[in-house]
Amino acid sequence: MISNDELGFNLLKKKILDRTGVDCSKYKDNYLKRRIALRIKAIGIDPSYTGYYRFLEKNPSEYDTLLDGITINVSEFFRDVDTFNAVKKEVMPQLLAEKTKRKSRILRIWSAGCSIGEEPYTIGIILYEKLGPTLNEFVISIQATDIDGKALSAAKAGIYDAEALKKIDKSRISKYFDSVDGNDKYRIKDKVKHFVRFQKHDLISGKKFSHFDLIFCRNVMIYFGRELQSRLLLDFYDALNDGGYLIIGRTETMTGEAKDKFVCVNTRERIYKKNSKNS
Ligand SMILES: C[S@@+](CC[C@H](N)C(=O)[O-])C[C@H]1O[C@@H](n2cnc3c(N)ncnc32)[C@H](O)[C@@H]1O
Repeated sequence: MISNDELGFNLLKKKILDRTGVDCSKYKDNYLKRRIALRIKAIGIDPSYTGYYRFLEKNPSEYDTLLDGITINVSEFFRDVDTFNAVKKEVMPQLLAEKTKRKSRILRIWSAGCSIGEEPYTIGIILYEKLGPTLNEFVISIQATDIDGKALSAAKAGIYDAEALKKIDKSRISKYFDSVDGNDKYRIKDKVKHFVRFQKHDLISGKKFSHFDLIFCRNVMIYFGRELQSRLLLDFYDALNDGGYLIIGRTETMTGEAKDKFVCVNTRERIYKKNSKNS
């Protein structure tokens, strides 16, 4: 049990920011404390923030290990199958009808906090299926970003254990994956992979993006404090084209000023449409 040393905790957050550029103070305190406690236990040092501060000073490689612990990369293909079905059956038809009306053939999608790639590749699969023979009439880009460089390297390789594919049926697996050396590992096929561009990006301090039709930011904001959640939701609003959609995680909520800027189109699946009248 770590003593309730708020001063030590705050100094530690400042030290991590100075040294790594990652602003830990924007994550939920309780979440951060749990991750630090796990590191302290694993190292076996005196259970105090000051003790951990000293350890970091003497062992700079620990910064990377701590950041690995803070960026939880749990994901899977079709995580929350119903959400992706709703995107395919409810969101895509509306979006494509809108595109046709505006005579636009460009589709821009952002997977923010993409981890090791399952989410952006899942989006690629549903686009492939939805657009079918008209696929080549569109210019499609899926921008997939994450703060975690190691996760992005794995995402670019696009090779997964069978466990990550457990929600995908056999016929989809054979359509979209190649088996790797018969090793119970699967590589995503190029026909999906070529839609996706991976990029390192910190949602807290990184540049602002724009002109997206769809933004997925699922199971990322849950780790952040309320203030940052509110700011990010406004950033997503600004990053969407008129009539664009935001999809957040099933346990996440719309909060702050952004509440009036989006219309909820599917409550259960947390799908929101940009309410352009409120720009
Ligand atoms: C639990 S995964 C979610 C993956 C995927 N979106 C999903 O729903 O399955 C959370 C991801 O958020 C990323 N993340 C955490 N803090 C971040 C930040 N400040 N900026 C960008 N990505 C961040 C982590 O590295 C991790 O890959």
